[in-house]
Amino acid sequence: MAAWSEARSRGGVSEAGMACPAGATAGSEPTDGECSAAGTPNPAFRRDVLAGLSARPRAIPARWFYDRRGSELFEAITRLPEYYLTRAERSILTAHATDVAALTGSGCAVVEFGSGSSAKTPLLLAAVAPSAYVPIDISGEFLRESVAALADRFPELPIHPVEGDFMHPLVLPPSVGDAPRLGFFPGSTIGNMSAAAAVDLLRAMADTLGQGSKLLIGIDRIKPTNVLIPAYDDAEGVTAEFNLNLLHRINRELDGTLPVGAFHHIARWNDSEARIEMHLEATRDISFIVAGRPFAISKGKTIHTENSHKYGPRDARLLLRAGSWTPIAEWTDRDGLFALILAEARPVPAAP
Ligand code: TRP
Repeated sequence: MAAWSEARSRGGVSEAGMACPAGATAGSEPTDGECSAAGTPNPAFRRDVLAGLSARPRAIPARWFYDRRGSELFEAITRLPEYYLTRAERSILTAHATDVAALTGSGCAVVEFGSGSSAKTPLLLAAVAPSAYVPIDISGEFLRESVAALADRFPELPIHPVEGDFMHPLVLPPSVGDAPRLGFFPGSTIGNMSAAAAVDLLRAMADTLGQGSKLLIGIDRIKPTNVLIPAYDDAEGVTAEFNLNLLHRINRELDGTLPVGAFHHIARWNDSEARIEMHLEATRDISFIVAGRPFAISKGKTIHTENSHKYGPRDARLLLRAGSWTPIAEWTDRDGLFALILAEARPVPAAP
């Protein structure tokens, strides 16, 4: 997410220049968004790690993946041959941004949830000719970078960045005017949340944008595990390095003594939850210290670090409806791997 990666468009931001999945955005302390250099531990990071290592099953919120190194590794993930999501979504936008524009009309205000520095945002902006662009992100630094990049590309486009947590309803700046709103939430970031958190977010988005607004959202589809698993466990080991970087970060920032070499990256499909899970598995019995506290993990036990929920076509539409959005169009890539869905915020009709 640094120079821009897709991860930046994913919502919350944990550190200077680093975004993190919106679904994982946890605390509301102002410290959450601040840089934690070695020696000045971020209190929210410390709290989440200590609580996560004490819980059973062990789990650490995915938002903490994205320090500088984690952001670089995530960007590398989006370029892996096995990681189809980014390419598939970009190909859908390339082929269908004009179809989106035909349904939204020109002159709407595009509101991106996450600061839009991904290569996808210009594809959308070029097609819909918006009256304004409103990136929303927790990280002021990300916002500034993405605004600068897009201002270069679209010198005529008014840009109104909003620094805030889009997990909650926000008031858009009055300068946006009363143009119809088109929300944009790419990257299947919605999949990094539980269904309950995803519905809360969708409703918050509808509140922020208002009735009659539209939302263009990227959602990854359920598919055979021989395609899903390699996307989260690539041959080169980049995703493994990304996952293990969390342990390095704990060692660096929280005075940890975790033996990183004794952990193994795992990506598994949890069919009943319809999600890919990433874990770090202990390959032997381990004792270590974090922030002065002793911990132990026995061989074969894991730390759960990420979920990526996948949705069949009907599942995705049901999720949107539960979040108060009515699907009006959807497009997929040639191989049907990924879906881009356009939905409208409509009042829920009275029951028949
Ligand atoms: N939303 C994307 C996905 O679920 C991006 C992502 C979030 C990701 N966390 C990740 C990709 C961890 C790889 C590894 O795939």
